[in-house]
Amino acid sequence: MTRILGIETSCDETSAAVIDDASGAPSLLSLVILSQDVHTIFGGVVPEIASRAHLTAIVPVVREAIAQAESTLADIDAVAVTTEPGLVGALMVGLNYAKGLSLTLEVPLVAVHHMEGHLFATSLDDPRAEPPFTALLVSGGHTLLLDVPAWGEYKLLGATRDDAAGEAFDKVAKLLGLPYPGGRHVEALASKGNPLRFRFSRPMLHRNTPIGDPSYFDVSFSGLKTAVLNAVRGSDDIERDRADIARGFQDALVDTLVEKTARAASMYRRDRIVLGGGVACNRALRDALRVRVAGDVQLFAPSPRLATDNAAMIARAGLFRYYHGERAPLDQPARATAPLPGQA
Ligand code: KG4
Ligand code: ZN
Repeated sequence: MTRILGIETSCDETSAAVIDDASGAPSLLSLVILSQDVHTIFGGVVPEIASRAHLTAIVPVVREAIAQAESTLADIDAVAVTTEPGLVGALMVGLNYAKGLSLTLEVPLVAVHHMEGHLFATSLDDPRAEPPFTALLVSGGHTLLLDVPAWGEYKLLGATRDDAAGEAFDKVAKLLGLPYPGGRHVEALASKGNPLRFRFSRPMLHRNTPIGDPSYFDVSFSGLKTAVLNAVRGSDDIERDRADIARGFQDALVDTLVEKTARAASMYRRDRIVLGGGVACNRALRDALRVRVAGDVQLFAPSPRLATDNAAMIARAGLFRYYHGERAPLDQPARATAPLPGQA
């Protein structure tokens, strides 16, 4: 039996969680997430402010997670922490705190890749969300399409060439005068929009792209963002058009993601698709994917609190790495960018 504490500070959420596998399967004992609302006034995450906010939050957030798990620090067998990718100053706060805990508690420190955390998140909701599967990770910083034959083996099929899916939502939100982070606001607005008024072309979706061409799986959203910008500028009544533009944008982005994900599942003959990252909260994406692959493939999407950044997914991925025998040294660095461990 292992009880593991997870710590996540890669962006603007300070989060801690406790997982144990006493019942035979990993189960979540507690999860505390403190979102830094301060960034809304700047319309995006300000790295220096994020680091300082993590510094004031990290001790009470970890203490609360331990308490909610009805544990004490003495019950913790290992500390898992996000070390990459992310804002280095923000990562350093969680990492240094985790190093201090591991040293004083005399328990192993386990380094976790943030996107591997997103990959594991859904399995905490539903244990059937396990490999082999096709994975679509859509967050504020990354868009990754992966084939996952086993935990720890990740074949990168496609990625974004410019903006991440969440970033595209956030930028379009800004163009439409919506608050940051904008994904869920764009979704709400789009649900009231007319799908026929703004039909933006589907990025990187050409019927004749041959298999093997990188654009078969890659995505790109900057052109779509520019199309939205032009639609906003060209509108003579933005109040009338806002919801329709939001709908046109979301439909184009969703169509592209759905088609590429379905291609991946079909090529690798997977009967499961697992979604991860904040954009996985988006109903239109989930519903369209479910309809597209209906019958042959089961879709697993994380619950909202496990979709967006949280430490439960870090503890879960950390538990896998812990059983794999991985231990981070005390001079473990934090890195802004890094491929997934085991990525081919
Ligand atoms: O995974 P996440 O919490 O952070 C990163 O690791 O980047 O994802 C945050 C992103 C933001 O861009 C946010 O706008 C987007 O997820 N998001 C959504 C929705 N909820 C959150 N995008 C579209 N529809 C949503 N309902
Ligand atoms: Zn994330």
